[in-house]
Amino acid sequence: MHIGIIGTGYVGLVTGACFSEFGVSVTCVDRDEQKVKALKKGDIPFYEPGLEELVKRNVAEGRLNFSTKVKDAIESSLAIFIAVGTPPRGDGTADLSYVKEVSEEIARYMDDYKIIVTKSTVPVGTGKKIRKWIKEKMNGNVDFDIASNPEFLREGSAIGDFMRPDRVVIGAESPQAIAIMRDLYRPLYLIETPFVITNIETAELIKYSSNSFLAVKISFINEIANLCDLVGADVHIVARAMGLDKRIGPKFLHPGPGFGGSCFPKDTVALLHLAGERDAELGVVEAAVKANEKQRALMFSRLKEALGDVSGKKVGILGLSFKPNTNDIREAPSLYMIESLLNEGAKVQAYDPVATPDMKAVFPKVSYKKDAYETVKGVDALVLMTEWNQFRNLDLARIKSTMKSPNFFDLRNIYAPDKMKELGFNYYCVGRNSIK
Ligand code: UGA
Repeated sequence: MHIGIIGTGYVGLVTGACFSEFGVSVTCVDRDEQKVKALKKGDIPFYEPGLEELVKRNVAEGRLNFSTKVKDAIESSLAIFIAVGTPPRGDGTADLSYVKEVSEEIARYMDDYKIIVTKSTVPVGTGKKIRKWIKEKMNGNVDFDIASNPEFLREGSAIGDFMRPDRVVIGAESPQAIAIMRDLYRPLYLIETPFVITNIETAELIKYSSNSFLAVKISFINEIANLCDLVGADVHIVARAMGLDKRIGPKFLHPGPGFGGSCFPKDTVALLHLAGERDAELGVVEAAVKANEKQRALMFSRLKEALGDVSGKKVGILGLSFKPNTNDIREAPSLYMIESLLNEGAKVQAYDPVATPDMKAVFPKVSYKKDAYETVKGVDALVLMTEWNQFRNLDLARIKSTMKSPNFFDLRNIYAPDKMKELGFNYYCVGRNSIK
């Protein structure tokens, strides 16, 4: 089978590379010529473990091609995946202008039956809109189907998530479209991955509901963590015991500085809009969004409280990406921390294993260091924002000896409070501050 993927951002590129690994012929399209040129050589524009090898291998074996022309992908493909960006507009709704543009282009070149699949996270009802946009621009009357096939890829572990997913969701209108989609995912079918086959609207809503539920879980445990700090409880033990209940499950109960990234913050707000437009109330999701904003602010106010005043103080930040194994800083909690510190007159020095160039573009005034040890030299406080593996086993005695004051804010709870206190740090974490 031959498929086309329009948009070589995170979702499009991972999807294209993984399908080609399944033995499918894939043409990935992006209008950015430089990007396509680089991709042909195997240069990946972002950091994702394992992706470069996968792209290089499948390009070399002739199953993965890149082009700047939508026409190239459409003519040869039976299924065309739309994987372009749907950035949030000022009011939080998803901007569908790229999806519309691509739909119209598909209409222009469609000469035979095709199935048009949305991979991007799109508001409920977008499938219907795509059908309308294509019909309006189509020459003649070619038969086509629309399908929704949301992705559940986590940045940093996207390839594993694609190859061994918990489920594959397919929303489609016709038996032919369902059969093609099943065929495409045959390797996953063979390893008994559960398939959820449903209508397009349901598939579209599954994506928003899944992301929003995970966001709710995180905000819930963050609020419980803050309560733990007030009552002498340990949030890790609370979360572990909760998670042992199979109805709750252990995942996404890790407290921290609030969720970030390009998905949860955007998708929760988009879902609230969708509900609002229909006069439906989603109080739980709304509360999760508010709790997340408060969590970010709380982390800064704790730091401020510990330092008295941050003005003129030097603060070291370890970890800038919104989570480990990615250079993505979109909605990263570190952005809020750095902005608050700079606004209140602190001097900030920072280090991240891969996201430094991205953060430099946003905050050129921060002093970027070459490693963790350089970052803590002479600081009044150290704030660990992202749990990169290389921060899990730092030489703590060396860290302490170079800091001006031993204020250690571990916002990912990677160190043990009693050990840190024993070492002489003023150690602050999330939900384990008051345990005796
Ligand atoms: C998320 C979902 O997990 C994917 O299933 C989904 O496909 C993707 O969004 C998307 O919509 O494209 P991602 O944003 O890459 O994936 O990252 P997550 O691992 O979900 O983490 C999101 C944020 O929550 C991070 O800031 C992370 O630090 C935070 N988090 C996560 C916690 O604070 N606690 C946890 O227990 C888990």
